[in-house]
Order: sequence, then structure tokens, then C-alpha cells
Amino acid sequence: MISIDKKYKELDEKLTAANMGGGADRIAKQHSEGKKTARERIIDLLDSGTFVEMDKLVVHRTTDFDMGSNKVPGDGMVTGYGKIDGRLVFVFAQDFTVLGGTMSRANADKVVKIMEMAMKMGAPVIGLNDSGGARIQEGVQSLAGYADIFRLNVMASGVIPQISGILGPCAGGSVYSPALTDFILMVKEKSYMFVTGPDVIKAVTHEEVTKEELGGAFTHNSKSGVAHFMADDDEQAMFMIRELFSFLPSNNMEDPPLKPTTDDVNREDEELQTIIPADANKPYDMKDILRSVVDNNNFFEVQPYFAPNILIGFGRIGGRVIGIVANQPAVLAGVLDIDSSLKAARFVRFCDAFNIPIVTFVDVPGFLPGITQELGGIIKHGAKLLYAFTEATVPKITVITRKAYGGAYDVMSSKHIGADVNYAYPTAEIAVMGPEGAVNILYRNKLKTEKDRLQKVDEYRETFANPFKAAELGYIDEIIYPRQTRFKLFQALELTQNKTAHNPPKKHGNIPL
Ligand code: HXC
Repeated sequence: MISIDKKYKELDEKLTAANMGGGADRIAKQHSEGKKTARERIIDLLDSGTFVEMDKLVVHRTTDFDMGSNKVPGDGMVTGYGKIDGRLVFVFAQDFTVLGGTMSRANADKVVKIMEMAMKMGAPVIGLNDSGGARIQEGVQSLAGYADIFRLNVMASGVIPQISGILGPCAGGSVYSPALTDFILMVKEKSYMFVTGPDVIKAVTHEEVTKEELGGAFTHNSKSGVAHFMADDDEQAMFMIRELFSFLPSNNMEDPPLKPTTDDVNREDEELQTIIPADANKPYDMKDILRSVVDNNNFFEVQPYFAPNILIGFGRIGGRVIGIVANQPAVLAGVLDIDSSLKAARFVRFCDAFNIPIVTFVDVPGFLPGITQELGGIIKHGAKLLYAFTEATVPKITVITRKAYGGAYDVMSSKHIGADVNYAYPTAEIAVMGPEGAVNILYRNKLKTEKDRLQKVDEYRETFANPFKAAELGYIDEIIYPRQTRFKLFQALELTQNKTAHNPPKKHGNIPL
């Protein structure tokens, strides 16, 4: 006869031990550092009561270094699935209270299991990272576990959205799993990512740097461009991930969710009529246009601190999600450079992979001249953006608000590289280059006085710096009144909603990496 009560008690004890992770002291330490535990984070992330934990009783299998007596049910990883706004998501969260959330073979197997399941079920994976990295006691088993996760990150790329929260340390090769995912969110002053830390750097290159300067949230959001979002604390981080997910489909076979809106699609905005300054060299804030055209003025910006001369992010028009790429004339005149090209190219490819129409706003004086840019490879980096826009088969809609000069005109989702609907404001200037530069080249040493030069500049502006030549040639489908931008975009989205387009069959292209 078995004692049923004893069995239940045994289960209770194991589940309680798993829930307690590394124990009360380590939980208290985690809290004292302003961080939540893995389970608390998951509760904040998911709809209330929806989390189903898997592999809660898995333990590591190492006996070296006295590890046989150091086992916690669940090991250092909490995995499972639940819902965000009623939609299925898979989650893994490293539990720093158990052996520093380090990667054991068992922990890696748990992550692999939910990633494979997520791909089968067509639902995203959200990873919450807070870990000392490879579990030293497990040696190559830990490295193998990481590599299995990397492989699945790559296989899942473009199939299901993958989102990484970095909520504590993330060092060494373990940074490469988040780096392979679509979006990285970091928490200010609590998280850091680097391949080699300050001590190793000091020993090898004699450079001195703090952890924060090297790999903190601000560094990766503003300087390296590794991260996409920055939160003040764990709670805000989970809220931001939820909001991000509201713009994404669950997988590459679905469209993003429609969000019914009371914001009238016919809404006109008189302020847009005068937003472009009379002086073409004066800046204005492109975000004013973006906020004006999207539902409820909600522009969800991605990478707001990196390469701010280009803006990327999500919004909705008539409830339908769009991905926005826009030159920002308020920063560096909206010029395209290495960083802005990389930032926008990756975003365009994300949108294309996940059926999100791309709306591009253009006010670009060209590519940034300079030795640093040329030697830094602006040719290949700019080509990435050209490649990304060209290969994208989702609906592509373009609005030229002002400057569209030179190669940058072609690159920024022009008709010629496959945009479906191309609008221009009457203030658009579409030409090989700006009037000043053009006159300098066309009339070098031929103009005697400043008055003559200014006259030629005006002449050039009248002839070329307008949208009419392009409209006469059919390169611009319609010159629109700025106040009607929202409605015009809505019309274009309706037109393109059942678009089908395919690139030639191939194994994969060779984007200039
Ligand atoms: C085993 C580890 C560990 C590790 C931390 N711990 N890192 N155990 N392997 N890599 C354990 C600690 O012994 C401690 O156990 C608990 O986790 C918490 O760590 P603390 O040091 O007390 O915490 P804290 O002071 O907050 O410091 C956190 C830390 C530090 C900065 C992460 O622990 C640290 O520097 N760890 C080593 C990081 C590292 O070099 N990892 C390898 C990176 S290379 P107790 O029992 O005392 O609570 C890598 C390769 C991946 O990851 C390759 C993939 C291809």
C-alpha cells in the first residue's frame, strides 16, 4: 500500500523548493539590489494567472565540485508559457538566486524545449536574462547548451518574434543569444552586456573602463546600438515588452493584431500644412508628423537613443500596425550615415519578415560626407539599407516631405526599388543634389558675382527642387496636401492589404554584411 498523502506531501515539498529558488537569503539579496526574481518578473510580464511552468522539477546532473549535493528543483531557469493580451507566448527567465542563474546543461535543455515548442505552436519567445554565464562546474556541457540555444535562435529568426530582456549581468559568449534575437531591452544601472569585461580589457589592452561605460543600458542604447529599449526598472521593462508585443504578429504566417480605434481615419491636421519651414535649411521635428498620422498619436519608437538622425518604430493607422522609417531633419539634417543605415536596415528586415507594412518618410540631404564614414564602410552599410528596402515584399508606402537628394532618394523606398505608393508634399525637393552644391559644380569659375550665383541657385530650385518633375514621370503617384497625410496613408494601406509579391527563389541572398 502506498501512502497517497505522502506522495502529495512530497510533491508539495518539491514545488515549494522550486518556488523558493536559491532560498530566502538570496531572494532578499536580489531584492536589495533593486531586482525582481525570475518568477516575479514572469508574473509582471504575463496576463494574470496565465503562466504555466514547465520542467519545474528538472535538476542539473553534475557531480564534479561537490555539485551532487547542490541541487534545486528547476535549477537556475524558470520556463513555460502564458499569455500577453490573451495571446500565447513562451518565456524563459534565468533565476539568479540559483547558482547565479548560470547555464547548466539542464537549464539549456529547458530553454531548447520551449523554443522548439514555440516554433511548432507559432508563438514568440521572450527571454529574461540575469546570469553569471556559463556554469563553470559544467565545462563544455554548458558551452554545448549555449550553442544549442544559439542554433535555435537562428532557426527561429524570421519565424517567430524573439525578444530579450537583459535584467542583470550578461557576459562572455552568452551575449550572443540575445544578439541573435529581434529586440533587446536593458534596465538602467542593473544590466550589462559585454564579451570581455573590464578586468580582461585592462589586462589585454591596458584600457580602463567601468562596467556601466562598457556595457550598461545607456551604452548599448545610445552608442553601440546593440540594445533597442531602456527601462528604469524590472517592472517598466515588462510593461515595455508587453507593449512591443502588441504590435507584433505571433509568427511569420500571421498579420499583426488589429486594434480597433476611435481615431477617425479621415482626421485632417491643419498644423501639418505649415510644418515644413519656408527655409529649406531649417530643421523641424519629423516626430510631429509621425505622431499626427498614427492612431491616438501613439508612435512606439524603437532605438530612440541610437542614430537619432533616423527614426524607426511602430504605430497604427485605422487599427492596422505599420512599421515607420523616417529621416529626422532635426538631427544632423536627417543625413544617412553608417549607424542610421544599419539601424533602419535591420528594422526594415524585421517588418518584412513579420508582415508589417513599411511607411517611409523622407527628408534626406544625402549620405554623410567624410573620411570616417568612407573608411568605416558607408558604401557597404548604406547598401544594406538599399538591399533591405529592395528585397522587402510587404506593402511599402513612401511620403517625401522635403529633401530627397541623390542616392539617398533611391534608397529611401523609392518607386524604383519597389515601393507601392509614393507620395510627395508640394514642398518636396527631388534632385541629384541640393541647389547650392549643384550650382557650384555646374557653374564652377563661371559666375562673376554673388548675385549671379544666387540667381542660378534660385533657377535650379525652381527647375529641379520640387516634386513636379518626378510626378510628371510617374515616379511620384500623387502630390498630397500634408493635412491629409493620415487619410492618404490609410488609403494606401487599404490598397495594399492583399498585396502578393515574391522575389526569385534562392537559398538566400547575399546582403553586404
Ligand atoms: C558558476 C557562478 C558563476 C559561474 C556566478 N556564480 N557566476 N557559478 N559559474 N560562471 C555563482 C557564484 O559563485 C555565487 O554562488 C552566485 O553565482 C552569485 O554570484 P555572486 O558573485 O555572489 O554575485 P554578484 O556579486 O552579484 O556577481 C555576479 C557576477 C559574478 C558579476 C556575475 O558572479 C561573476 O563575475 N561571475 C563570473 C562571470 C563569468 O566570468 N562568467 C563566465 C562568462 S564566459 P553562491 O553559491 O555564493 O550564491 C561565458 C561563456 C559563455 O559565459 C559561452 C557561450 C558560448
